[in-house]
Amino acid sequence: MASEAAPFAKTGGLGDVAAALARYLVRDGHDARLFLPLYGRIDRKGLVPVGFLRDVPVRMGDRTFTFSVWSGALPQGGPTMYFVECAPLFGRQEIYSQQGDEHLRFGMLSRAALESCQRMGFAPHVVHCNDWHTALIPLWLRTIYKWDRLFAETKTVLTLHNLAYQGGFPKSVIGDLSLRGFENLLHQDELRAGRVSFLTSGLLYADALTVVSPTHSREVQTAEYGFGLDGILRARGVTGILNGVDYDEWSPERDRHIAARYSPQDMSGKAACRRALLAEAQLAGDPQGPVFGVVSRLTSQKGLDLVPAALARLLASDDVRLVALGSGDQRVAQSFRDMERQFPGKVRFREGYDEPWAHRIEAGADAFLMPSRFEPCGLNQMYSLRYGTVPIVRNTGGLADSVTIYDPDTGHGTGIVFDSPDASALRWAAETAARLYRDRAVWRSIQLQGMAEDFSWTRQIQEYTALYRRLCERG
Ligand code: ADP
Ligand code: GLC
Repeated sequence: MASEAAPFAKTGGLGDVAAALARYLVRDGHDARLFLPLYGRIDRKGLVPVGFLRDVPVRMGDRTFTFSVWSGALPQGGPTMYFVECAPLFGRQEIYSQQGDEHLRFGMLSRAALESCQRMGFAPHVVHCNDWHTALIPLWLRTIYKWDRLFAETKTVLTLHNLAYQGGFPKSVIGDLSLRGFENLLHQDELRAGRVSFLTSGLLYADALTVVSPTHSREVQTAEYGFGLDGILRARGVTGILNGVDYDEWSPERDRHIAARYSPQDMSGKAACRRALLAEAQLAGDPQGPVFGVVSRLTSQKGLDLVPAALARLLASDDVRLVALGSGDQRVAQSFRDMERQFPGKVRFREGYDEPWAHRIEAGADAFLMPSRFEPCGLNQMYSLRYGTVPIVRNTGGLADSVTIYDPDTGHGTGIVFDSPDASALRWAAETAARLYRDRAVWRSIQLQGMAEDFSWTRQIQEYTALYRRLCERG
């Protein structure tokens, strides 16, 4: 279960991954069921109410909420989706809200999932939790649901997509979370500091912890990348499983959002996508140099604040373009707007969340910028590889695991990789891309090597099922 599942609710990679993981588990023969809140933004057309899951009461502290469940299907088939309806908590447009009841909202998602399993008589072998939103389940299975033999054999996996978000709340929410009397099971340092955190409880009680790339599994066990949780992670151990790519959604051969389709055998469509992107972005002509693309949440994680300084020289003196799409931090958004003004006809920034544009940038750009300070996995660099859009990435997390630096001596490599999280390293990388781009044969060979990479879920899913099997066999 997860707070996001594409295409119903998505702000970033979690939405893609939660949906794809469940879909490919079903294709692999498993009975996967995915629970998601029925957010106000989700269209109910096509959803069917589940008769015996109507107005089910859940007591949370002094209040009793009721939930109902609607079922639906993912567009490309796959798991049954269960949408948890609880208007006072989920009936708003936004996925994450600034109001004071986030603990109740995601507490409710998890409680509703367990209560639904009980009413369905469904005893999952594995409950797979994602991020802090559903990380209380392992603790609840050991406390308030311990009595229920239905879950006696159930194992829990917690996948950490992003340690920067921990779901920390003042300890006054303990009652709301039905954990009064179980304080001794909470993380004692946090409790002494007057806090409880969903994520920490998951780290303590999930049967297995995973992160979304092997490199990040090593990183999170260090103080630099551990967000204060490295000690627990070292003690418990964490497995890194690289995210997969849903090539049904993200392939230039099939993409329904792009101007022309293409493949490694016939790249002419990519040139058409480039022209279409520049026209749609109202950028000038047919530049000699590369078109750089960005599609991102704008947060300090992504390192995009380095872009203006890193690209200034190239934009001033070379025939290059930059097309960026993103929303979030207003300072970063403003710096992209400033670049638009400073380099008219060369830079376009589109603020907001726009799925078709994300596809058109992947297809139409020549190179893709991901200068992340940390990146648990990252999906866009893997999408870029498939679209023949050369990724420019920092050597961290899943970026390091999916992009190999182009080596001019051997001719091998799929992208440009740099080490330091600073503007001069990114400048080196972008200028290297612009230089390599001038040699069309070299550039084409980098593109084709990237397009030949395979990060499909059919491969990645085997690692998850092997983990599930190990847990279940352990008893
Ligand atoms: P993260 O989950 O940290 O945001 P990922 O690279 O794993 O990073 O996933 C980001 C996903 O969100 C990709 O599918 C990307 O295309 C999408 N995305 C991010 N920002 C936007 C946006 N402004 N408009 C459309 N899609 C976006
Ligand atoms: C997170 C991470 C990103 C990862 C995604 C899906 O949001 O920031 O690196 O790809 O989750 O696992």
